[in-house]
Amino acid sequence: MWSVGEMPSNFVAKGAEAYEASMGRWSRRLAAPFLKFSGVPTSGRVLDAGCGIGSLTFALSACAQLDSIEALDFEDQFVEALKSRATDARITARRGDVCALPYRNGEFDGVYSLLVLHFVSDARQAVREMHRVLRSGALGAAAVWSYDGMPSWRLFWDTVLAFEPEAAGNGVPSGRRPLTAAGELREVFESAGFARVEETMLTIVMDYVNFEDFWYPKVYGQGTFAAFFEALPKVRQDRLRDAMRSAYLSGDRDDGPREYASNAWAVRGARA
Ligand SMILES: C[S@@+](CC[C@H](N)C(=O)[O-])C[C@H]1O[C@@H](n2cnc3c(N)ncnc32)[C@H](O)[C@@H]1O
Repeated sequence: MWSVGEMPSNFVAKGAEAYEASMGRWSRRLAAPFLKFSGVPTSGRVLDAGCGIGSLTFALSACAQLDSIEALDFEDQFVEALKSRATDARITARRGDVCALPYRNGEFDGVYSLLVLHFVSDARQAVREMHRVLRSGALGAAAVWSYDGMPSWRLFWDTVLAFEPEAAGNGVPSGRRPLTAAGELREVFESAGFARVEETMLTIVMDYVNFEDFWYPKVYGQGTFAAFFEALPKVRQDRLRDAMRSAYLSGDRDDGPREYASNAWAVRGARA
């Protein structure tokens, strides 16, 4: 359907379990403050655009007043994982592209996108589509991690780059993803025609039980870095692991829990 170079997504998926371990546990935590900021309608039909394995879909499902919940994602494997876990008959999940939403104008009473727009090849088009499918006056909202607000990932990437510089752009994201700085989401929402646009910062804690809990999902799970790491000679894998362990333990502390406050930019606006 899509040829290389035209892909509407820059996200690299490695399966539902890997996603849950590396990010799903945090997006589930972010879903509640995101919905509190975004506002959930008192009835009607809502869309989770870029649902992944359903962190936000299932948070919406806890809202008894909603009549139906659409969940859409580009990754088939995530859509199937969501379907297999969904017990709420109001949920319908399907594969699709947020840049070309398969819905009519004005069909939704709320449209949400959690941690998606910085992976979409044409985020402006995606936000125009979110606006198009909302009924007049209804709210749309989105959130992405703040580039400067992810200390646990910063610690991870900085340590990788110190020991494996060729990982830059080859597993380690090269530079900042779009929309991850203050004001960027707001500008895209305003350009798409949203009215009464407001932006805020949401904070959750990413807490790890111990070093393995921090290390393992990042290295063996989701994303392009796992492939880079797997291809390294064992001696370099071990060297990186030791350096990372030392960074996680802050040099001289015992292994155990660590907490990192992590920030996401969120925006909401109303269909004019
Ligand atoms: C970091 S995950 C977030 C998933 C979920 N919203 C959550 O909070 O856990 C990013 C998701 O965006 C999806 N995605 C990226 N580009 C997309 C597009 N053009 N259309 C639909 N989904 C897209 C990916 O497949 C992936 O599931």
